[in-house]
Amino acid sequence: MTAPLTDDLPTPPETLSLGEVTLRLARVVSGEPSRGFVPYFHFRIIAADGSDVGHINFRVGDTEHVRVCAGHVGFEIAESFRGHGYALQACRAIAPFVRSVCEAVTITCDPDNLASRRTIERLDAQFVDEVAVPAHDPHYQRGSRTKRRYRWTP
Ligand SMILES: CC(C)(COP(=O)(O)OP(=O)(O)OC[C@H]1O[C@@H](n2cnc3c(N)ncnc32)[C@H](O)[C@@H]1OP(=O)(O)O)[C@@H](O)C(=O)NCCC(=O)NCCS
Repeated sequence: MTAPLTDDLPTPPETLSLGEVTLRLARVVSGEPSRGFVPYFHFRIIAADGSDVGHINFRVGDTEHVRVCAGHVGFEIAESFRGHGYALQACRAIAPFVRSVCEAVTITCDPDNLASRRTIERLDAQFVDEVAVPAHDPHYQRGSRTKRRYRWTP
């Protein structure tokens, strides 16, 4: 199966937290098979003082879009909250849930995205390769031409 139906997805643990962050499941989003989009869990990243500082997504499925461009785990921290390593902590917080679904997953970043690269490398994810972004992928339209791929064993 390359992408499960939303009904077949596992239930995340009630509490996912680590260090200064707690993850709050905001929604489970259905895939769009015709575009290679798989279902994903969208968690908000909540800091110790209760601020919503960003999000982390866990995509379940193995289409070309996921394997080459999006990766299974993606994160973003709002600009005003960057600089505290919240994305790294969020990855560590989500690790037990990811591990309950797959032994290892792919995380990608654009080569010039140094904050993302550093975050992924500090997770001890292993660099796999750098691959071309297919011209039909939405990431190409956004300007990405290559992706660095890492294998993360959470
Ligand atoms: C990637 C992102 C989530 C990281 O946010 P964050 O958790 O606040 O990360 P930080 O700013 O604390 O930086 C993490 C590490 O990268 C380093 N870093 C940050 N910006 C850097 C830069 N321009 N050059 C080199 N290193 C940089 C930091 O020094 C830190 O390293 P350290 O752990 O050794 O101190 C955030 O920059 C972001 O949301 N970017 C836009 C969305 C995005 O690119 N998402 C990832 C897609 S794969």
